[in-house]
Amino acid sequence: MSFPEKDFDAPANKSLVDEFGRHHTDLRISVTDRCNLRCGYCMPLEASFMSQQRLLTYDEVARCANVASEMGIQTIRLTGGEPLMRPRLYQLIEQLTQLPKIQEVALTTNGLLLADQAEGLARAGLSRLNVSLDSLDEARFEKIARRSGLQRILEGLEEARRQGFRSIRMNAVSIRGLTEQDIVPLAKFCRTHCFHLRFIEFMPLDAEDAWSREDVLTGREVRQIIEMHIGELSQIKGNNPGQPSIDYTYVDGSGIVGFINPVSQPFCDRCDRLRLTADGQFRNCLFSTTDWDARTLLREGGSDEELQGLLAACVGAKHFSHSIGTEAFQRPSRAMYQIGG
Ligand code: 5AD
Ligand code: SF4
Repeated sequence: MSFPEKDFDAPANKSLVDEFGRHHTDLRISVTDRCNLRCGYCMPLEASFMSQQRLLTYDEVARCANVASEMGIQTIRLTGGEPLMRPRLYQLIEQLTQLPKIQEVALTTNGLLLADQAEGLARAGLSRLNVSLDSLDEARFEKIARRSGLQRILEGLEEARRQGFRSIRMNAVSIRGLTEQDIVPLAKFCRTHCFHLRFIEFMPLDAEDAWSREDVLTGREVRQIIEMHIGELSQIKGNNPGQPSIDYTYVDGSGIVGFINPVSQPFCDRCDRLRLTADGQFRNCLFSTTDWDARTLLREGGSDEELQGLLAACVGAKHFSHSIGTEAFQRPSRAMYQIGG
């Protein structure tokens, strides 16, 4: 990857354009670090969680989102941990969908609580759903998630459909020696049920620090397995540039399958994302090693101007790339569940 020259024409102050000319329009907000699964690529088996006091309230989240939207954020995705474990999440969604400059509020969930909550989420104005699911076999699901629950997730998917969520995406993490057997059943299931399936390469954000480059089952390898067992795929040209996924259709008919390849094909050059952690820290990258503390500012009476300054500083410090797999790579001290996927 070549590193571009810094773009010194980019507006310097209070803007969400970074030094490399990337415009940031998407904010990922984590609402909790708690989860009802224990997927090994994300969480430790024995986790200790943020205290209630440290979590931003919904009003505090909405204030950060509003300030960010005034600076150019247009879409919001709620994540966790498992966001549906935060009580009455629909209330936050209602607050966020009412912000005049926010065009879309989406949610990434493991689906365990979806059957109960899909109706309320739809009513609150949620636009999109991503459901994370790595296996359709209960025993294998339990091996990966280290808890049970596959049936509840399948019921959740059905209920989400019934509530009118149309473009439901499914995310599956690809790990060598662990998930190969699940690729074909997942792809067939998603093709039959018209879910847009995306395979995500395993990133060094597991809490147990077990990641190694050899564990990454690349998107290319997953695609080859699908082509060998299901059928030929053809890349869809002109994808939405903000989407990290490289999407394919099956040549013989319906179905879309995508590949998010942060390790083998980093997409940092077109990154448009910023993050707010459940404990109120702005971050400019999943792999950021610094936090920008909005919670303290909010609780010490900081103004919207000051919050804007904080977010601008966060964007201004964004690195060009995560550099996974190089000597320069530094693992963040937070694992995935403490940042938000
Ligand atoms: N590598 C890749 N993807 C991950 N996810 C969680 N941890 C990792 C990791 N270490 C995925 C989840 C979810 C999304 C938010 O990120 O499965 O789909
Ligand atoms: Fe964006 Fe960081 Fe992900 Fe690269 S690694 S795409 S910079 S969030």
